[in-house]
Amino acid sequence: MGREKWSSTTGFILASIGSAVGIGNIWRFPYIVGSNGGGAFLIPYLISVFLFGLPLMVLEFAIGRRTGTSVVAAFQSIRKRFSVAGFAVVAIVSLILSYYLVITSWVLAYACFFTFGRPMEFGAFTDSYLPLAFFLLSGLAVFATVRSGVREGIEKVARYLIPILVVILLVLVAFSLTEPGAPDGIRFYLSPDYSTLADPAVWTAAFGQAFFSLSVGMGVMLTYGSYLEKGNLFRSASVIAVADMLIAILAGFMIFPLVFTAGLDPAAGVNLAFVTLPSVFTEIRFGMVLGALFFAMLFAAALTSAVSMLEVPVATVMDSYGYPRRRATLLVFAVIMLLGLPSALSYTALELDLFGIPFLDLSDYVFGTVGLIVAGLIMSIVGGWFMDRARICGEIGGCGWQQRVYMVLIRYCVPAVLLITLVGSFLRVAG
Ligand code: PFF
Repeated sequence: MGREKWSSTTGFILASIGSAVGIGNIWRFPYIVGSNGGGAFLIPYLISVFLFGLPLMVLEFAIGRRTGTSVVAAFQSIRKRFSVAGFAVVAIVSLILSYYLVITSWVLAYACFFTFGRPMEFGAFTDSYLPLAFFLLSGLAVFATVRSGVREGIEKVARYLIPILVVILLVLVAFSLTEPGAPDGIRFYLSPDYSTLADPAVWTAAFGQAFFSLSVGMGVMLTYGSYLEKGNLFRSASVIAVADMLIAILAGFMIFPLVFTAGLDPAAGVNLAFVTLPSVFTEIRFGMVLGALFFAMLFAAALTSAVSMLEVPVATVMDSYGYPRRRATLLVFAVIMLLGLPSALSYTALELDLFGIPFLDLSDYVFGTVGLIVAGLIMSIVGGWFMDRARICGEIGGCGWQQRVYMVLIRYCVPAVLLITLVGSFLRVAG
């Protein structure tokens, strides 16, 4: 049997948008903007997305399409001994998935609570064992999608969910902007404070957020590129990056007006999504419906991202060990659920932690922050320095001056920026 393929370029783009648009856009981006200089943050963010994130995305697509296989086998075809680096990337993305699924499952839980009109307080929720049930449930949804294959599973789910997500987001934004707290909310969100641009931490926050949000450096885009036959990679990557950015920016236009309307504090982190927003929805008019819509939208975004992460190890087991898709999916799913269990249990009555830090928070730092950067470094170095230049040029439309500029970005700028971000993330912890 030949390799599975997307049904069309549109299907491929939608699946990639599905991967890129996730919890990172709708919940993380707005509060990072709000706490890093408001509108001024858009400058480092735009630079990060288009100068560093987008080239890395194109590189991943190029490696995937050229080698026609997933991360480990692709790295192996570049240099035999690079398979170890490939496994490292697959391990990192699997570990990110293991805790990303936990947050996805909370989102699903809140979508259900609001649909039935009975929002639960976050503390009460995590004091119970309900999170475990939802962890299993959302894991099964991701499993079922990937098991159905590239076209019938991943692509189909994205084709349905992405348009629905956009419509819900537009409805929510339109509603929020007519609420009394809109002017204050938008002022908080976007009032530019240009002095923050002198702070290196703001720049590393922008780099980290851009790589996470675009799902680059993790082998996801490489794997998705391996199911692609033709088409201009720069054009596809630009569409994906612009869509990802617009959805992130729009999300802030719905969140802050609502928070300010309810007179609450625009908190950061877990509190914003699972404490502040639920109490906003219990206070404002049409709150139950809006809450149900919001969490359903967030679940759609999280599901398509989790699916893309699961596809990386599944495709690896298929390509490197010859397993059929169904068996590979079952095996990987079981491993991921086991890996995720400590994170899932860290926000239950059991309160599992390590050195006093909940397992989930620890995983977010070790894998989602440091691991993500390390994987990005591996990807840019293996692809940029060791893949035959002629092969890359063949994928990105020739070897003219544009491609030469591109190679400089990939070889020097992207690794440099990733290293700076890595140092920044260590300093944040030390400081
Ligand atoms: N891009 C996703 C988000 O913004 O939530 C998260 C993500 C997906 C990160 C896939 C990494 C990845 F490989």
